[in-house]
Amino acid sequence: MNTVVIGAQWGDEGKGKIVDYLAGEADVIVRFSGGANAGHTIVSGGRQYALHLIPSGALYPGKVVVLGSGMVIDPRALFAEIALLEEQGVDTTGRIFISDRAHIVLPSYIEIDKERDAKRKKPIGTTGRGIGITYSMKSDRDGIRVADVGWKDKLDELSKGDYDFIAGYRDRLEAMAIDMAAFMERHKGDRVLLEGAQGALLDLDLGTYPFVSSGMSSAAGAAIGAGIGPRSLDKVLGVFKAYSTRVGNGPFPTEFSGEEAEGDLGAFIRETGREYGVTTGRPRRCGYLDLVALRYACWVNTIDRLVMTHLDVYDTLDEIKAAVAYTVDGEETADFPASIGKLTAVKPVLQCFKGWKRPISEVCHYDDLPEEAKAYISFIEDYCGTKVGVVSVGYERTQTMVREAVWD
Ligand code: GDP
Ligand code: IMO
Ligand code: MG
Repeated sequence: MNTVVIGAQWGDEGKGKIVDYLAGEADVIVRFSGGANAGHTIVSGGRQYALHLIPSGALYPGKVVVLGSGMVIDPRALFAEIALLEEQGVDTTGRIFISDRAHIVLPSYIEIDKERDAKRKKPIGTTGRGIGITYSMKSDRDGIRVADVGWKDKLDELSKGDYDFIAGYRDRLEAMAIDMAAFMERHKGDRVLLEGAQGALLDLDLGTYPFVSSGMSSAAGAAIGAGIGPRSLDKVLGVFKAYSTRVGNGPFPTEFSGEEAEGDLGAFIRETGREYGVTTGRPRRCGYLDLVALRYACWVNTIDRLVMTHLDVYDTLDEIKAAVAYTVDGEETADFPASIGKLTAVKPVLQCFKGWKRPISEVCHYDDLPEEAKAYISFIEDYCGTKVGVVSVGYERTQTMVREAVWD
């Protein structure tokens, strides 16, 4: 069974935590898109791990994890991450594999990424990890894949710096390289968890273009990125926060503004939810849950079940708000516009919900959640036409409630 986990907002929804939780019952975990722009946090037994390239199932002893074909991999970042995991006591020997079709991020691409974004009139605010350049080299058919690291004629086209860089990692990359198609065929019938990076609204095609990343972070990308056909995707889980965050630039209709941003609410959410980027340390922009955007994410990814995280962050509030529509040019709409001009101009129509005013981080069963919290979830399910199958009430692996079995 192939189960896909994607972000249903602008990234940082808690995918790492959820994939780590679900990986306990998975046979194999495959990351299918993005690169070291991602930052996936896992907290287990009080220890915190930050993963950027390695799939979030790697913490279980002996579990096989794969960096899939849709990824762009900076070998320097990869081997530094492996070394750090080993230092933290995680034995990764012989169980991290890389698709030979994945593309390699070269040092020159990282420089170009930073320079190009700095020169943009409206910078995207990229993570500076060379992601966009690597994906554009791939589209331009000038990229270097893992399968190409021993292809002398191809490598001769590179600058000396990039050539030497690849040469330094060639043996280690070749030792980890696999044929994704054959691998997935062998694991047919196993429980395979397909881990996304970024989020639906950062997807190159479906997101808030051009303020997006460059990979296929939507569910459709899971097929290409893992080397299987789309009909082999059995279930899609979309992770979302009880509120919204965004890092970098671009439209964000429900972003806290004025008093909310400068006053207590924005600071409270940022500190309570620890809303600082794992990769760049940038403070995340925060706002209300945007149901217009979330429902759009459900539609374009055929999300079977939503996974709600960070519900505990709202524990002390009297009142919670979420956007149920936008107004633009005096008209109300509940559709998510493609035009960035429009999306920047919209004003959210906010609906209020009663807060529960008690701590929920220790709650283990869905039925034991406060009625107000269940009412908020129930409204989201009705609005999106999608059930919330898992609820997370803290960053620890154990603070997770599953309402129905994920692998059935
Ligand atoms: P990812 O990129 O989607 O994996 O998410 P990040 O790791 O970048 O950011 C999510 C942050 O929220 C991390 O610090 C997690 O430890 C934390 N987190 C995940 N789920 C919950 C939750 O339900 N409640 C709280 N308070 N924090 C959570
Ligand atoms: P995870 O997997 C949040 C954002 C960047 C920037 C835009 C483009 O942790 O959810 P890029 O370097 O990819 O070209 O930057 O995308 N971005 C993310 N925001 N979470 C992420 O990953 C992100 N990966 C990229 O901040 O706005
Ligand atoms: Mg993240």
